[in-house]
Amino acid sequence: MRMFTVVVNDVELAREAFLNQGEHTSGRPYHTMLRRYVADERGEMNGLGMSAGKRWKEQRKFALSKLREFGMGKVSIEKKIQEETSACLAHLIDTNREPLDPQALPAVVTLNVIDLYYTRCSVRLRRPRLPQTERQHQHHLLRYPVTVGHLLLNKELKSNIAMRHEKQATRRIEGDVRDYFRRLPASAPLPAARTHTHSCRRHLSAFQLLISVRDLFLAGSHTAMTTLRWGLLFMLKYPHVLRKVQAEIDDVIGRGRLPCMADQDNMPYTRATIAEVQRVADIVPLNLAHSTTAEIQLGGYVIPAGTDILANFTAILNDPKYFPEPEKFRPERHLDERGDFVQNEALIPFSIGRRVCLGEALARVELFIFFTGILQNFNIRLPDGVTDPSMDGTFGFTWMANPYLLHFVARP
Ligand code: HEM
Repeated sequence: MRMFTVVVNDVELAREAFLNQGEHTSGRPYHTMLRRYVADERGEMNGLGMSAGKRWKEQRKFALSKLREFGMGKVSIEKKIQEETSACLAHLIDTNREPLDPQALPAVVTLNVIDLYYTRCSVRLRRPRLPQTERQHQHHLLRYPVTVGHLLLNKELKSNIAMRHEKQATRRIEGDVRDYFRRLPASAPLPAARTHTHSCRRHLSAFQLLISVRDLFLAGSHTAMTTLRWGLLFMLKYPHVLRKVQAEIDDVIGRGRLPCMADQDNMPYTRATIAEVQRVADIVPLNLAHSTTAEIQLGGYVIPAGTDILANFTAILNDPKYFPEPEKFRPERHLDERGDFVQNEALIPFSIGRRVCLGEALARVELFIFFTGILQNFNIRLPDGVTDPSMDGTFGFTWMANPYLLHFVARP
């Protein structure tokens, strides 16, 4: 069978494809490898990231309602992220100036936050290091896109931080599903799963939702972790930016309390720095593939149903029309002449349209509070003998900064 892929290289076309014609471009390709891991016995894909059609809508609606209930988009989520950040800062003080690879820190913060969501039983940050298995898989497996499958079902990983509470998560999920169904108004159309027999429904619901939880762990931890690691690396590389961020933090927040989202409005330079980190780091260079569910017209071409569509974020985030001299790391590009933050319409690292990142609101809070909290409390510097940090990355599930060591020195 012939398969076609269309690559969208600018933001206008991306808007046309995913916003204006989102109804017909929100499918996902039927990936043979992933099928083994996320398809049920009928061959239908499950989970948030890979399912499509009614099943995906149902999963997404459910996950969003739960994430909002948990606090996403509200002040309460900030408190949880502040707690995790504060535990992380305490650990950094304990490291006693030993250089460390910051890769485990944000991963644990974000994993804990997602973990809290489903299991309400946070893995306290006594030792903010991922267990060996998690570190190994980050090191070896996440380097290859094909390993998404390993992540989902690899036996060893079942014991890792993300899977440790699987039984509790399953119980919790089943409870959530029952509550969800109970609260649906009698007139509401029945979700597909509800029309199955009780035993089949339980099996199906638990399986679908477990895959969704795994999607949340995977999509929610590695993306935020990777962005934050790049962020710290850019601060090493561009100390003049770091100094400006720290001056703004001192001015607006001081040292007596942790940052909160309300600070963001008064911290345009820090906000612009995080925006620039997201632009240059470009951690999901080709987005997740979409596929057309009906024939569409795009850019003067007829695109048949069943065609894969990739948004080339690398081209979009480096388009000189929107980002002059795109190769330069320059937070000022996100500020107007009065120094206020301006949202650039081509800055779409979370994608756009119906399949836009489900965790965007959560990720924005994590990025701001963690990044600002670290720089409020620590100076960062390279280990003795290392003069220039490597900006090389490796492409895997995301575009990841290569491992590096960093001294966190408490600010006087
Ligand atoms: C810096 C952090 C993050 C970035 C850059 C990012 C980016 C993305 C991108 C580009 C997509 C694909 C959208 C598309 O197909 O058009 C996506 C999907 C997704 N993200 Fe994120 N993400 C981040 C953090 C998170 C977090 C914290 C969560 C969890 C709470 C999350 C959950 C998801 C899910 C579940 C999907 C699949 C949505 C769907 O297919 O309907 N992400 N993300």
